[in-house]
Amino acid sequence: MTCRIVVFGTGYLGATHAACMAELGHEVLGVDVDPAKLAKLESGEVPFYEPGLDEVLKRNLDAGRLRFSDSYKEAAEFGDIFFIGVGTPQKKGEFAADLRFVDSVVDTLTPLLTKDAVIFGKSTVPVGTAARLGERARALAPQGVDVELAWNPEFLREGFAVQDTLEPDRLVLGVDTERPGRAEEVAREVYAKLLANRVPFLVTDLATSELVKTAANAFLATKISFINAMAEVCEASSADVTVLADAIGYDARIGRRFLNAGIGFGGGCLPKDIRAFMARAGELGADQALTFLREVDNINMRRRTRMVELARDAVGGSLLGTRVAVLGAAFKPDSDDVRDSPALNIAGQMQLQGASVSVYDPKSAENSRALFPTLSYATDVVGACEGADAVMVLTEWREFREMQPSLIDKVVRNKVILDGRNCLDPARWRSSGWEYRGLGRRA
Ligand code: UDX
Repeated sequence: MTCRIVVFGTGYLGATHAACMAELGHEVLGVDVDPAKLAKLESGEVPFYEPGLDEVLKRNLDAGRLRFSDSYKEAAEFGDIFFIGVGTPQKKGEFAADLRFVDSVVDTLTPLLTKDAVIFGKSTVPVGTAARLGERARALAPQGVDVELAWNPEFLREGFAVQDTLEPDRLVLGVDTERPGRAEEVAREVYAKLLANRVPFLVTDLATSELVKTAANAFLATKISFINAMAEVCEASSADVTVLADAIGYDARIGRRFLNAGIGFGGGCLPKDIRAFMARAGELGADQALTFLREVDNINMRRRTRMVELARDAVGGSLLGTRVAVLGAAFKPDSDDVRDSPALNIAGQMQLQGASVSVYDPKSAENSRALFPTLSYATDVVGACEGADAVMVLTEWREFREMQPSLIDKVVRNKVILDGRNCLDPARWRSSGWEYRGLGRRA
């Protein structure tokens, strides 16, 4: 059955969800307040780098199943199923999540509704938000209009957003157990094609569904910080964290994924989500339960400083007056996202310590320049490495992983390569006369 769906927010989450719902055969309207983003999307251009999304977008625009608008009135008239996919950034100066964009969707939409509606929240929110928004929606809806609020958290990873939406590991739906309604039935219609492929579908209460998302991200962050803590111990004892990760990863209870030691996690989700989770637990009086996340955060931030120290050592004790090439600026490969990117943060710290830093990233130059305008940006690997005293690989783009030392042998001043993601083959570099250093590995 074809549903008429509105998706609020056209960022990584919203734009992907809108295009993918159209791909499932539904009629979809994407709504945003940013006219520049809408203009791009309407012309078939994805406003950020996400592999495969442009094809899905174009195909569904051409088929007439997908449109974009900035009008809430149009949205209210068009849809009876609404998804909220707007951002929940960290509040300035505190750990808590800023919910103003989520609140604003509910406040603006619900008074305009002309027929019964189910609103599904997808954004990552502190537990308790969905119940509060449901009350708000019921209070603001016109008389005679029944509005139901449910939560359907999103687990998509940047770089795999389309795949994660169309072939998810699981679907989770939180419903208001005190007010049984149509949300489950509607979700089953929306996701009928996925459910036919036997995707696990868990229906629970609102609070649990909100917590599933924050707990998942907290676990992933903890797993990364665990291996980075092991890297610190490896550094202190001349052991090798990559072999350690392989060896413990064979234990199926542990698993090798998300055990890559390096400069740690960044991006628009993990750092702010663990902080918002701590803040919310504090409000609920359960702060002790999550004090370990503060340590997870600390370990993570320490890796950035450690990388700068490694570079300082490698160039002879002081960065002042040195030239450093930074390969990679995005928070991870296959993304142009530089929000809280460890790579850019390290590049900035190096510059503050007096190095002249030249950054190259295959996709994120524009976003990087907007965030760190004082760094210099090269247009390719060779350009970045010109005259470098050290080359740092800080995002594991394939281009860097597969790079041959001969590409930059002749342009650097010193053959020193620092692997911030443990993504290079030390033997390849050492056999070409390079000094190779990685985090959590023997010098
Ligand atoms: C994350 C979650 O994975 C996703 O399920 C959720 O919906 C949103 O947040 P994303 O932010 O796209 O997704 O990135 P992810 O692939 O999780 O990587 C996060 C960070 O951890 C990156 O900076 C990455 O470089 C780093 N990382 C990841 C490591 O340092 N080591 C690893 O082993 C894995």
